[in-house]
Amino acid sequence: MSDIFEKAEQVLADIHAQAPANAAELEAFRIQYLGTKGLIKGLMEEMRSVPNERKRDYGQLMNRLKQEAETKHDSLKEVFEAQAQSAAGSAIDLSAPGEPMPLGSRHPVAVTMNRIIEIFTRMGFSVADGPEIEDDWHNFTAMNTPEDHPARDMQDTFYVVDAPGMLLRTHTSPVQARVMKNRKPPIRIIAPGRVYRNETISTRSHAQFHQVEGLYIDEGVSFADLKQTLLFFAQEMFGAPKIRLRPSFFPFTEPSAEMDIWLGTDTEKNYRLTKGTGWLEILGCGMVDPQVLENCGIDSKKYSGFAFGMGIERQALRLYEIGDIRLLFENDVRFLRQFASAM
Ligand code: PHE
Repeated sequence: MSDIFEKAEQVLADIHAQAPANAAELEAFRIQYLGTKGLIKGLMEEMRSVPNERKRDYGQLMNRLKQEAETKHDSLKEVFEAQAQSAAGSAIDLSAPGEPMPLGSRHPVAVTMNRIIEIFTRMGFSVADGPEIEDDWHNFTAMNTPEDHPARDMQDTFYVVDAPGMLLRTHTSPVQARVMKNRKPPIRIIAPGRVYRNETISTRSHAQFHQVEGLYIDEGVSFADLKQTLLFFAQEMFGAPKIRLRPSFFPFTEPSAEMDIWLGTDTEKNYRLTKGTGWLEILGCGMVDPQVLENCGIDSKKYSGFAFGMGIERQALRLYEIGDIRLLFENDVRFLRQFASAM
């Protein structure tokens, strides 16, 4: 009787020793050991002749045989299939279901920018843009800020070391110059984009932020047009019932003003936001200085216009009640995901 056990042990040793080198050899292995007329099946049929007290041992041995053969077969099968696929030039199974791609969301700064653009396009403004690496002339000189003008200190500038006369634009106002040089009035544009200033407000704060510029040039454009345009914007954007224009200074506008919107002090939030005054500063604006028109080839006797410029980050904070501006730049998706439904 022991020879049937010996025979089975031998088959087990053979299975270990086998090394099919390709799919065809593997199939031969399968038929030899696992097939319906294979060795293992044959050994199983010998169970009948095994004495009862040893049937259990024999059964266990059979299970091991089957398992060893199956494991060897299955793992080699995988290897050969993968080899065949990459040999065919592609490991891509076109029939496999696609991997789901998570849907992104717009950044709150982009959402705010789009809202501003949408409001001004309704008033007939179209979008213009200019380079972020700008030349000195467009950024400063054309905007009535010649070299050594103290107003240049208002905006600490990053200069391009390898390209004298080139800098990172400190505001979107150079787009005004670019548009005026290339188009004839009437001109009605807004220019959203990134701007750069060498300011260290805090060690973690950013040297870049976003602005939207506005420019309207035509015959007979007055300060009243500026005021009405900005009032409409403040109502649409913030639901503010009124605006206030405070005298200010910019080299490229005369007269110049800062526009505040009325939020009131009814809520704790608005009280804090407006430092108890009810007014929140939103943008700088003014009538385009005739010298700027002339610098850009527009007849200042025939045409007049207004311009304004606003930072976007601060408005995003206000719109979404975000408490800390740094959140806008950290790109933490747990924060950004909250704006997933905004457009
Ligand atoms: N360029 C100015 C700034 O960055 C804003 C401004 C634009 C003011 C247009 C008046 C007219 O502060």
